[in-house]
Amino acid sequence: MNTNLTSMNPLWTRRNFIKTSSALLAASAVPAVMAKTSGDASAPAALGGAKAHAKPWPSWPQWDPQNDAVVTKVLHGRVWSRDRLVKEFEGKWAAAMGAKHCLAVVNGTNALSASFMVLDINPGDEVICAPYTFSASLLGVLYKGAMPVFADIDPLTYQMDPAQIEAKITPRTKAILPVHICGYPSDMERIMEIARKHKLFVVEDACQAHMSEINHKKMGTFGTTGCFSFQTSKVMPIGEGGAIVTDDPALKDKLYSYHNYGFKTNIAPGSVDNIAAFILGNKIRMAEYQAAIGLCQLKMLEEQTKIRNENARYLTPKLAAIPGITPVKPYPNVTQLSYYMYPFIYDEAQFKGLPRAAFLKALSAEGVPAGSGYPNCPIYTQEFIHQMFQSEVYKKFYSSAELNFDAYKEKNHCPNLIKTFHTSVWLSSQGILLGSKSDMDDIVRAVEKIQKNADKLKKA
Ligand SMILES: Cc1ncc(COP(=O)(O)O)c(C=O)c1O
Repeated sequence: MNTNLTSMNPLWTRRNFIKTSSALLAASAVPAVMAKTSGDASAPAALGGAKAHAKPWPSWPQWDPQNDAVVTKVLHGRVWSRDRLVKEFEGKWAAAMGAKHCLAVVNGTNALSASFMVLDINPGDEVICAPYTFSASLLGVLYKGAMPVFADIDPLTYQMDPAQIEAKITPRTKAILPVHICGYPSDMERIMEIARKHKLFVVEDACQAHMSEINHKKMGTFGTTGCFSFQTSKVMPIGEGGAIVTDDPALKDKLYSYHNYGFKTNIAPGSVDNIAAFILGNKIRMAEYQAAIGLCQLKMLEEQTKIRNENARYLTPKLAAIPGITPVKPYPNVTQLSYYMYPFIYDEAQFKGLPRAAFLKALSAEGVPAGSGYPNCPIYTQEFIHQMFQSEVYKKFYSSAELNFDAYKEKNHCPNLIKTFHTSVWLSSQGILLGSKSDMDDIVRAVEKIQKNADKLKKA
């Protein structure tokens, strides 16, 4: 990929990028909060003071209207199913990630499921999974009749802890599923050492981690496959879309067949000749107009990532200086982050006992959008897994003791994950971290104001 945005498109010089993105897109995102900034700047907005941030944030997803023609050309050209543009997108995404091959698919969920479907993973096998995620990561494991086994996270990095992975390995373990949650890289160098030692597949859920790196190597390129989502909220938004990267040409061919009904790789999409399916496949092809949007978005990704990383570098020490706020730590070998979310750990004890829910409400009143992340409903307790345990396939391959759901929940209990559910704060950073330095100062002022007035906010 040509990584120099400025030389590709003069519209996207750095200054113009910020200016254009705010101007073009702010209008749609201006919340009702814009107007009123009354009174005391030192009082919390939740108690009638002025907002720390009263302007709109850069909205998300971003779109340069100069690219409208790229999409309408596809529509008017009437080649809508997978063709030249999808192939071009695959080449550019592989190059951007530093992978040998890429297959574009309909979404991240199916990128993950397809990976499991084509790998030699079978009923009775175990897959060690990251628990800080949601059902989409795991569907392929269950489709294959394999058993998800959970390794707890490191509470400071939010990523699955390699020591916990090692502790969960058995002779039945076939694969590891790291999820680079919030776009922070899992400890892939150690995870790959473990995988090599035990001859395990690694399917990376990089759906939130476009452009994140360890020692300048991108997430998604460490494992057997790396899976990406281009859903709207992601830092590389198409609306819906996904990609699988791999360095294994045979695996790429198998994935291609899987994604096109199980037909041989030389069968063009839409062909009705020789369409005998030779593997059990699916149909999860990316469309041409998705690829057209993706090619436009990809031109902005590197510059946007750079801005988010610069802003995060500015913001992190300032937030870390506030008692009770601990920004989530990337591992020391992380060289770049997607900052899909900007997460930090909230210690209510240092905020005079102000509950996290009240903190979030006060933060939002200050004009800083934030949430608590995934709800306190650990994935290993969710009904979709229980339902599979009641299926005839699972009953055939696992003992009744293994399928006892209460025992399963107990065995997979992840205390660090539970603690994280209660203490995490996620700034929805796709737009926020594209703001200016003074916007970052607003975030800091908002949190400081809440900290100073925690007593009053607690009583309110
Ligand atoms: C961690 C993770 N895995 C998987 C997915 C699924 O991706 P998609 O929404 O494109 O199907 C997402 C996105 O929502 C995600 O955040």
